[in-house]
Amino acid sequence: MGTSRAWAAEAIATVERDAVITPLREVKLPPDWGVRLHLKDESAQPSGSVKHRLLGAAYADALASGQITEDTTVVMATAGPAAVAGAHFARLIGVEFMTVVPRSTKPEKIAAIEAVGGRCHPYHPPAAIYQEAQRLAADGGGFYLDHFAAAARVMDWRGDREHHIGAEIVAQLGRPPAWIVTGAGTGATSGTIGRFLRYRGYRTRLAVADPENSAYFPGWASGAPDYATGMPSRIEGIGRPRMEPGFLASAIDLVVPVPDAAAVGALTHLRSLAGITAGGSTGACLWAAWRLIDRMLSEGESGDVVVVMGDAGAAPGLDGTAYAEAVERFLTTGRLETP
Ligand SMILES: Cc1ncc(COP(=O)(O)O)c(C=O)c1O
Repeated sequence: MGTSRAWAAEAIATVERDAVITPLREVKLPPDWGVRLHLKDESAQPSGSVKHRLLGAAYADALASGQITEDTTVVMATAGPAAVAGAHFARLIGVEFMTVVPRSTKPEKIAAIEAVGGRCHPYHPPAAIYQEAQRLAADGGGFYLDHFAAAARVMDWRGDREHHIGAEIVAQLGRPPAWIVTGAGTGATSGTIGRFLRYRGYRTRLAVADPENSAYFPGWASGAPDYATGMPSRIEGIGRPRMEPGFLASAIDLVVPVPDAAAVGALTHLRSLAGITAGGSTGACLWAAWRLIDRMLSEGESGDVVVVMGDAGAAPGLDGTAYAEAVERFLTTGRLETP
């Protein structure tokens, strides 16, 4: 036990200081609609993605628990933005970081992890990366940071300290929105927002946009906590083949199934409408937001709709033209006709 408590306390403070209030960017809608659309731009986080808040909380928890000490190697199993955030925090507190990635991982994703000081350990088959990470951590005296398990446990949801995503949104708008729309990967973001909204007694409803192949929509709709599709999502960062432990179905008002091509179409449209480039997960959330705004208009409801915006990660190579055109027509007719 070479670790001093002073080091851990300082490391926790360093992690907790490393957050920003991410911008809320308005996408202009026809003023007579009485509905305003905003993007909560999580790509502005220091490690560049929605995963920053989860990984910060996971590091703080592991440091406070004595699981990460000065000479611990932190080991994860993912090639996505969670690994970039994991490597970022490791570098910040001065510990080693490595992540087990599928052998087929694209070089640019490996480069993004290495650019913040992480090491990648390619492994095959992809489904076995989690066990391999666990084994590497156990053999080398490291700490396996399981971000899916952490999502269920480590996130603050009261929002009574600085830097809760829900508290930031309410403060930036000056009022609670009508809807917050997010995706679900680990479930951390929707879980923390859903609990926050109930804790504060806000009437804001929480929607989760769910892509094709994901277990979350059918699992939520049927109430089956063990629903599984066994199929990977094509939209990076959101949608899972099984219900993950951090997905808090009861805290979500509506899960909106989104065709993958609709996610692509919504992105294309966003680029032409507002000049904003985002990734597939943001496109999925945006399509769900258009559906909700259509419903608000037909029910004569006004208010703010806030979409959580992730990093500018890849979108699948699908033709989203019909969906982009549907959104374009919606802005003039006020009725969204799905292709
Ligand atoms: C726009 C958006 N929303 C939500 C998520 C999922 O976050 P979580 O892992 O907290 O469920 C992502 C993931 O990367 C995302 O890009």
